[in-house]
Amino acid sequence: MIVILNFGSQFAHLIARRIRDLGVRAEILHFQASIEEIRAFHPVGIILSGGPRSVLENGYPRPQKEIFELGIPVFGICYGAQVMAKFFGGVVRTGEVREYGKEKISCTSRNPLFKGLTKKEPVWFSHGDYVYMLPQGFQAIASTEACAHAAFAHEKKPWFGVQFHPEVAYTKRGKDIIANFVFSVCGAKKNWSMPILKDEIIASMREMVGDAHVVIALSGGVDSLVAATLLHRAIGRQLHGVFVDNGLLRKDEVGAVGKAITAQGLHDIRTVDARKNFLERLKGIEDPEKKRKIIGHTFIHVFERMIAYDFKKYPVRFLAQGTIYPDRIESAYGSHVAEKIKSHHNLTLPERFGFHILEPLADLYKDEVRRLGEELRLPKKVLWRHPFPGPGLSIRVVGEVTEERLHMVREADAIYIEELRRAGEYGKIWQAFAVLLPLRTVGVMGDARTYEHIIALRAVHSVDGMTADWYKMNHSLLERISNRIVREVKGVNRVLYDITQKPPATIEYE
Ligand code: XMP
Repeated sequence: MIVILNFGSQFAHLIARRIRDLGVRAEILHFQASIEEIRAFHPVGIILSGGPRSVLENGYPRPQKEIFELGIPVFGICYGAQVMAKFFGGVVRTGEVREYGKEKISCTSRNPLFKGLTKKEPVWFSHGDYVYMLPQGFQAIASTEACAHAAFAHEKKPWFGVQFHPEVAYTKRGKDIIANFVFSVCGAKKNWSMPILKDEIIASMREMVGDAHVVIALSGGVDSLVAATLLHRAIGRQLHGVFVDNGLLRKDEVGAVGKAITAQGLHDIRTVDARKNFLERLKGIEDPEKKRKIIGHTFIHVFERMIAYDFKKYPVRFLAQGTIYPDRIESAYGSHVAEKIKSHHNLTLPERFGFHILEPLADLYKDEVRRLGEELRLPKKVLWRHPFPGPGLSIRVVGEVTEERLHMVREADAIYIEELRRAGEYGKIWQAFAVLLPLRTVGVMGDARTYEHIIALRAVHSVDGMTADWYKMNHSLLERISNRIVREVKGVNRVLYDITQKPPATIEYE
């Protein structure tokens, strides 16, 4: 097991993720974790993550000094490297030429950390500070033009620091650097896999729930389905599912979801038709955050009513959701460091809500959830459906949500997805969907002037939804889709294809 001490980096989970992908257990702890807490995990190595703070500030975050007395390797990344250098008496400064973004390092020494790397490797930097003077006993093992100590290591002890991020995709050989640390330096053994993860989640859910009953909110998406299947394996008849038809679902979704869920043997699934309720509350609301909050609260309201009436005879104490890791970081959940980007509706639960929240997938990324779903033998077709957000089509109707506007986006989306499937493109794309823009433009149809709506088509490549690149779609396919949408969807006379990456844009429009 490798312990990662988190200094508030958005990437800390990526480090854990890379290590798990290597088949080794990894645990993220707060940087202030006590030495007893760390020891309890019996780690074979410690990683100090990056972080947004500066060691030049008063009261900068630092780890327990005893971590260097455990006799196990310590690897500092970015801020983690600076804090380590400072701890041993090095000098950290703020860069005049800010080392930021893509750089090339030259590996200047044969260090086990860089085993198998070529002399020059592309890496990603993201901090304004740098180690100006190394502490005694340390030597540089890589440099860039602007930074003499891009990576360093102790001459005798297994202590390493890199000022770039090996965990992000741009650092091409980052995985190898992490693997070198985990296997060659720490001597870790492979002990982490999907079957183990599955058994662990099931066992821990069983223990947490005890004799209580759990209600799970099914959204129609992959995450809540995998979460429900896991819980069903854990607690069987103590699980009850609620599928809320909020009127914001895709075409023909209600029937399809019902089928997929009952096929998994979940015996108690109740569908609530709350379409009117949601639409009424959304009337006149244009602000995206307000829309998300209203949807979140309406969900809760519907649940509370269900629980008060329908589940009265059961001792329900938990509400389960399929929240996954990216939902949590992007909502700045439990972290005052990461900036709030969007409030994911799953997390706008009122604090004084009467139940505990169960989130069996809270530490997993989308592709891990899918792999877990395969382990649970859920159908591939369902698992590999594109992600669909909790607030549904409401965040794909930019501006006010009305029945008429939902209809346009739903029909356009159905045509888009149908054509992608027919062309064999659907499976190659991470997520594709149609969006209705709050604009009307002039067009001409037959001999008549039209003044109608715009549909934007989005298709992206991504690994985990955290970053995304637009999909380079075949032009004749785009043309076919556009023609069909304009011809078949009443009220639309123009179709655009979105060519923005995330960042700076997000995948969804609101
Ligand atoms: P963004 O738009 O933040 O989306 O780039 C990243 C991924 O998350 C999905 N998404 C959500 N999923 N509840 C969810 O369950 C939400 O409120 C939500 N908002 C965005 C989005 O579809 C994409 O896959």
